Amino acid sequence: VIVVPVNLGPRSYRVLVGAGTLAQVGPELARLGAGRRAALVSDAVVGAAHGEPVRASLAGAGFEVAEVRVPEGEAAKTLATAERVWDAYLGHGLDRTSTVVALGGGAVGDLAGFTAATYMRGIGVIQVPTTLLAQVDASIGGKTAIDHPRAKNLIGAFHQPRAVVLDTQVLRTLPERQYRSGLAEVIKHGIVLDADYFALLEGSLGGLRARDGETLTRVIAGSCRLKAQVVEQDERESELRHVLNYGHTVGHAVEAATGFARFTHGEAVSLGIAAEAHLARRLGLAGPDTVARQVRLLEAVGLPVRGLGASPEAVLEALGRDKKARDGRVPFVLAPEIGRFRLVFDVPRAAVLETLADLG
Ligand SMILES: NC(=O)c1ccc[n+]([C@@H]2O[C@H](COP(=O)([O-])OP(=O)(O)OC[C@H]3O[C@@H](n4cnc5c(N)ncnc54)[C@H](O)[C@@H]3O)[C@@H](O)[C@H]2O)c1
Ligand SMILES: [Zn+2]
Repeated sequence: VIVVPVNLGPRSYRVLVGAGTLAQVGPELARLGAGRRAALVSDAVVGAAHGEPVRASLAGAGFEVAEVRVPEGEAAKTLATAERVWDAYLGHGLDRTSTVVALGGGAVGDLAGFTAATYMRGIGVIQVPTTLLAQVDASIGGKTAIDHPRAKNLIGAFHQPRAVVLDTQVLRTLPERQYRSGLAEVIKHGIVLDADYFALLEGSLGGLRARDGETLTRVIAGSCRLKAQVVEQDERESELRHVLNYGHTVGHAVEAATGFARFTHGEAVSLGIAAEAHLARRLGLAGPDTVARQVRLLEAVGLPVRGLGASPEAVLEALGRDKKARDGRVPFVLAPEIGRFRLVFDVPRAAVLETLADLG
């Protein structure tokens, strides 16, 4: 088991990464000195596939656990579900010493985190993410939210977990497309934050494809360490944390232009990374080798790097509607080299359009 610390003063916590760590949830909670009551929040699929070891470990450590079921996927992140979940906490007698255990993908983590942040003005939450995306991205950093009918993640709170427990074995049941999508975020971390880590990924292709336990532990722990470093320097997402938006500026626009149906988030991010890599080259910021390595690694794990699924004009138009846009222009995170990033504010529209046209 690899332990990755997240140092945030009084809100510090640790991330446990390894095979079979679901059995550590109970001991970890006991170690934190939490009250005896806990709520285990998960959806039907994850609860059935991976709930048992968590239940057993909590019971074994002396906790009294209420199970709370929420819908699968984004449907969990509604006010109606949150209300049901608060009711369940109250019904089970959860108090300020109690803990919410979030077992599931990013959606369950966001909903469980949000309900924990708001119940009695905030009780503890342990994140036990079961998708690769949630393990390397959503579970660390304390962002929690539900959706508003008109905007995703609009209603939320910063609420750091008290611990994060990552079990590489739960990824075995993850559908291939979802697994690959999580790899887009992993690759993103390497490109903008750490050249050695990027090289580790290039050298781990076989293990990654096979979802080999040791490879996954090393790769996931590395990704968590990078995400933790960013969160430690910018807990409330003012400046530095934007670096994690690499590939997401174009990626979000592609998702929007294709009606959020054609690509998974990770696939859109992969296209976004390819686009932003080519854009950096077009602007004279990055050399051809830097671009080629990014595209090659994405392709090698089976992620798309061309074919936007929409016209370049439609993607450009969606870019202009980005929350960060000013006068129709968005700031871009670009990678001049593997392992480095630069925020660029004045990218000419023509350069973006030509890049998108090349990719389409
Ligand atoms: N808080 C953050 O910082 C942050 C960051 C990124 C994304 N998010 C949020 O995360 C959500 C997306 O998360 P996601 O990609 O994990 O998908 P998800 O949570 O929507 O889960 C997708 C599906 O995968 C299933 N599933 C989960 N784990 C499984 C497993 N081990 N085996 C088989 N099936 C499994 C679930 O039942 C669900 O149906 C979005 O709502 C997004 O806004 C939050
Ligand atoms: Zn993302």
